[in-house]
Amino acid sequence: MAGVEGRVIAVTGAGGGLGREYALLLARSGAKVIVNDLGGARDGSGRGNTAADTVVAQIRDTGGEAVANYDSVATREGGAAVVQTALDTFGRIDGVVANAGILRDRTFHKMPAADWDAVLRVHLDGAFHVIRPAFPHLRDQRHGRIVVVTSTSGIYGNFGQANYAAAKSGLIGLIRTLAIEGRRHNILANAIAPLAATRMTEDIASAEVLEKLPPAHVAPVVGYLLTDESTETGSVLVAAGGNVHRVAQFQTRGVTFPEVPTIDQVAHRWREIVDLDGALPGTSPLA
Ligand code: NAI
Repeated sequence: MAGVEGRVIAVTGAGGGLGREYALLLARSGAKVIVNDLGGARDGSGRGNTAADTVVAQIRDTGGEAVANYDSVATREGGAAVVQTALDTFGRIDGVVANAGILRDRTFHKMPAADWDAVLRVHLDGAFHVIRPAFPHLRDQRHGRIVVVTSTSGIYGNFGQANYAAAKSGLIGLIRTLAIEGRRHNILANAIAPLAATRMTEDIASAEVLEKLPPAHVAPVVGYLLTDESTETGSVLVAAGGNVHRVAQFQTRGVTFPEVPTIDQVAHRWREIVDLDGALPGTSPLA
């Protein structure tokens, strides 16, 4: 196989926004797509089948193959049902795009535990709920492509988004580990941090800025990470309005204390510890 031709790929939250773009492009490129969406509001309230059904109809109208799934990825059963829909309809699963997301922005000192829980459940647990039941299939067939959707909030933090940033950051830790565990089995796992005009960003940036950020710009990057030819794994890509970058972590040259230092000794060498001059890409000390 080549590209994503014939591959069975589940895209969560594909009833609108960016997920819809991913699903449409993948189907146009020959993939069989599971269009998951519970059809709720931006904050995760409500549900309905129309969003997923509309995307599936659009794919089928243009000769593509797709099936709808309306389960919430926030539950273990919902995530399992997404994978089961792939197996029941197309007999296999090759890729997962963990894209479903909600927003419950509040400054941290005002954040109710319910908003923390709801956001982590959809973004972080939601990725686990779908990827975990897919993973044994990917291992057995020695082929798998995983893309989780992170955010610049998860990389850098963002005012009012402690819950969202924590969830999005957790997804980066997840793919870094899946990349390590998956490598021997031809399973690649990456994260994309998109920036695009959707209902999620409609009141965050000006119309002028949003005009330059159509979701269609992000989809080919996700599409590439799902191809048979890609060898990229464990990476975080930022994609926004035609700009595509990899974000990586660096470690300073730092200092070595031959003996347990005092607090004062640490303070004395602090500048050297944090100085980025000569920093190198960071690697796990356990690797
Ligand atoms: P969106 O609100 O248009 O799309 C999210 C979709 O996920 C919706 O269709 C929604 O119904 C679905 N969804 C929500 N909870 C779900 C659940 N429990 N189970 C199944 N489906 C569920 O927003 P957008 O912008 O397309 O977001 C897609 C992803 O991209 C999200 O993970 C978001 O955090 C991320 N992202 C978006 C950015 C942007 O600039 N639009 C920036 C950074 C990240």
